[in-house]
This record gives sequence, C-alpha cells and structure tokens, in this order.
Amino acid sequence: MLLLRAVAGRRLPALPLPRRGCSRFPPSSPAAGGRPGAAPVLAALLGLGAVLAYGERRRRVAQAAQAPSPPQYPRYTREEVGRHRSPQDRVWVTHGTEVFDVTDFVELHPGGAEKLMLAAGGALEPFWALYAVHNQPHVLELLREYKVGELSPEEGAPAPATAQDPFAGDPPRHPGLRVNSQKPFNAEPPAELLGERFLTPNELFFTRNHLPVPLVDPGTYRLRVEGPGGRGVTLSLAELRSRFPKHEVTATLQCAGNRRTEMSRVRPVKGLAWGIGAIGTARWGGVRLRDVLLHAGFGEEREGEWHVCFEGLDTDVGGAPYGASIPYSRAVSLAADVLLAYEMNGQELPRDHGFPLRVVVPGVVGARSVKWLQRVAVSPAESPSHWQQNDYKGFSPCVDWDTVDFTAAPAIQELPVQSAITHPPPGAAVPAGELTVKGYAWSGGGREVVRVDVSLDGGRTWRVARLGGERPVPGRAWAWALWELQAPVAAGAELEIVCKAVDGSYNVQPDSVAPIWNLRGVLSNAWHRVRVTVTR
Ligand code: MTE
Repeated sequence: MLLLRAVAGRRLPALPLPRRGCSRFPPSSPAAGGRPGAAPVLAALLGLGAVLAYGERRRRVAQAAQAPSPPQYPRYTREEVGRHRSPQDRVWVTHGTEVFDVTDFVELHPGGAEKLMLAAGGALEPFWALYAVHNQPHVLELLREYKVGELSPEEGAPAPATAQDPFAGDPPRHPGLRVNSQKPFNAEPPAELLGERFLTPNELFFTRNHLPVPLVDPGTYRLRVEGPGGRGVTLSLAELRSRFPKHEVTATLQCAGNRRTEMSRVRPVKGLAWGIGAIGTARWGGVRLRDVLLHAGFGEEREGEWHVCFEGLDTDVGGAPYGASIPYSRAVSLAADVLLAYEMNGQELPRDHGFPLRVVVPGVVGARSVKWLQRVAVSPAESPSHWQQNDYKGFSPCVDWDTVDFTAAPAIQELPVQSAITHPPPGAAVPAGELTVKGYAWSGGGREVVRVDVSLDGGRTWRVARLGGERPVPGRAWAWALWELQAPVAAGAELEIVCKAVDGSYNVQPDSVAPIWNLRGVLSNAWHRVRVTVTR
C-alpha cells in the first residue's frame, strides 16, 4: 500500500503500481513500478489526481483553520470501523487513534486501489511499515483531511509500531554490510572484503530479500513436494536429513541486479542500487533436489515442457509467497547439482539466507534459489509468481516502461560471463612500484572462467591475470575464480584499470554498458573499470 507519487509539487520516489486484477502483486519489487502499456500514463494521472485532490484538501484545511472551534469527532470502536470495508459501505481505516473515511481517495492512491483496500476496515500501520515512503509528515497531513472520527478511549492505543512492523522479527546483521534497503533488507559486502576470500563469510554474504524474513520453527517445519496425478510427499527436516544422502556443492550465487549502479549511470533504471557485491560464494550442504523428486515418485525424464516451481514462506501483504521455477530437466539432472540446502559454509543456514531450507541452483541467477522453501511443485508451466513472470527478464535498450512486454522475454536462468575488480577501490591513490589488482570472475551454466584480461590503460593494452583456486570439473564450474595481477606502475600516472573474463565457451563480456542497458538494470556485465592515481 503506497502513497503519492507527487504531492503538492514534491516528487516522491517512483512507486509500484498494481497489475490489474492480480492479487499476487509484490509489495517491494522495484520492477513492480514498471507495468507494461498504460502504467506510466496511469501513474501520471493518479499523481496529478492526487495533487489536485491534495490542493482542494489544503484549501479546506485553511478554511477549517479559520473556523472558531475544532470539530468534535464522533467515537467508534474497532469493530465499527471494521464494517467499512467496501465502497458501498464506505472505506474506513485507522491510524493511531484516528478514524478516516478514505473512500474518495481509493482510486487516487498511486500505489493502486487494491493496495489501499488491503487495509480497509483496519489499521494502516502494518502496511505503512512495509512502505517506508509513508513515514513522511505530508502523508499524515493528507490523511487527516479524510478524518471522520476517533477510536473510543476503551479501544486503547494500537500496539507500538515496532510490534506491528512485519520486519521487526528480521535477524541482526553485520554492521560492515553496505545496506541498499533496510525494509526489506538488501545489502552487500564492501568490494574489498568480497575479493579477500574464496568462500564468502556468511555474515558478509549479500542478502536479497523481497519481503520480511519469516520466523520458522524447525521442529514443526514441513516441506511439501507435489505434482500432477496426486503424487507428492511431505518431509520434516529430520526426514530430509536422514532419508537422503548429504551432498555438498561450492557455488556462487549472483543477483541479476549485480552491478546495476553502472547501468543506471547510463540511463536511470528501476531497482536497488547494487554495486559489484551482489555476488558471493559458499559451500552449500543439503540434499539433492533430484533425490527428493525421485523419492516423491517423479521420474528421471518427463515428456514435453515441465518445470519445478518453488515457493518460499515469505509472503507479501496479500499472502502471496515469493516464488520461482527452473526447468524440470535441470532439477533432476545429476550433473546440475541442484540442492535443497540446510547448511552454508558448514553452519546452519542463516535466517537471512533461507533457514531452515533453501534451493541452491548452481550456475543460475540467484532469483531461482528460493529461500525459506515451503513447497516444491512439478508443473507443466513456469512458476506463476511475479518474480518469474514479470521480473528478472532482459530487454533491448529500446524497450521502455511504456512498451515493455514481459511475456515476450524468457525468464533469466543461466547468467552471462562476469568479472569485477575488488582491489584497488575506485578513486584510490596507490603507491608507485608494484600494484596488485584483484577481482572475481564467474560464468553461468557451469562454464569455467578460462582467462581474465586486465588493462591498466582503459583497454588499449592487456595482460593476463593469474586465476586462483583449483580447476573445476568441466561443465560444473559453479564457483567463481578469484584472480590477481601484479604490474609496475609509475608515480603520477592516472590509471584506468579494466577487467574482462572469458569463459569455456569463449563468451566474453561486452566492452561498454550502453548497448546492454535495460530498463530493470539486470545482466550488467560490461568490462569493469576502476580509476586510480599513482602517488610518489
Ligand atoms: N527466496 C525467497 N523466498 N525470497 C526472496 O526474496 N530472493 C531471491 C533468492 N531467493 C528471494 C529468494 C533473490 S532475487 C536472490 S538474488 C537470492 O535469493 C539471494 O540469496 P541470498 O539473500 O541468500 O544472497
């Protein structure tokens, strides 16, 4: 539930618009603002409508201010407020101890009428807690114009905001993380720390949450695995651990939005401002998804197109869970190493990373590695989830939010070849002599990184970096390679350090961002560039 895109001449951050008739609209997806077709027009109209409504309301407030005495509002119980949940019965909401009739504002709500209707007959606070944009004085000022009453004193004050804050139960986080958004929590480690270790420490592993972190009781937790023909099983954690052999995989997870800030420098994009740290590598421990599917009665192969859909326990305000899917063939492939993981780097899966059980799909965009897994469904169709259908897809630079058609592009699965410089940091002053450049390189689909080229002069001349770690099993290079290059640098030089990786299929990174720009800022994998000066 959201508020004004533009109020009284002030411009607020772009906000998600609902997809008409869709109750599964995610509250926090940055992509949600990009509905195809009429969305921007609608948004503009809604914004304008809100401005006009606000202007009119302000005029009435000014008049009221000149009135001799403040109005005496009638008192209502919560139960009475609760009877006003539709335009026919009027739409009432409460905030603090105040009661508002927002019927006339419902259609003007730029976050979408259906978002506002979720709060109909009840308190606004739990919804506002999800959308921090509401926590601004002018939003309350606007709301007050719709005031029709007060809650009866015996109703008492609502529980403090924190108790209603759906994020209040989120786990504590490492203070070293660079936070991109607090609610939902999205954060990445500083680049310098990222390149230090082959296995990213759990506390520093980037976190990409679309929703509050669910609190799961491992004792009562059950995983449902189901599909056509009534086949299926329900498994407790103890059963998962005891019935299936433990399997471990070292795999890199990368968010589709990694390095988005470089794309938004070309032209604005919608999405969190990730630097180069929305990527990390861990040793995941758990059971093979394949083993669980076979145990549940599904075969090695299925004729035609089939998918395995995953649902998390994290839900949006409408109750829709986070979801995603992968092709069935990948899910049952022995060589694809798809895991239901309960361990991360030898420790119990941390809450932010999916406790007690998550999917890990090596070589595939992080969005498909569903956390807090509650349901696995074999289906002839891809996941119906917003994140599979209307997000995490790539488009041409010529496509904008007026023309985008999410049905026209495939959901991202395997990611393209990627590399970035983790040391030295951009803008650093490095001493003359021997310079060490460090970074990571990785490619999707298990394609091994076979070479990393580094330039110190913006790409005019190149050297080959030394790749760290062991050679992976061909076709199963799930983990990144950390690389290093030593080169002499002269005092006073201005360096533009550039890196580009080559994978086993001789895929290379594009040299610049503009030709791969896309409205969601995904798949940002152009040559990474860092400028530094050399001191004496
Ligand atoms: N699973 C659930 N249930 N909810 C989520 O918000 N985010 C996805 C994926 N799985 C997400 C999820 C995305 S977009 C990414 S990139 C990865 O989790 C990030 O995993 P991490 O937070 O453990 O790094």
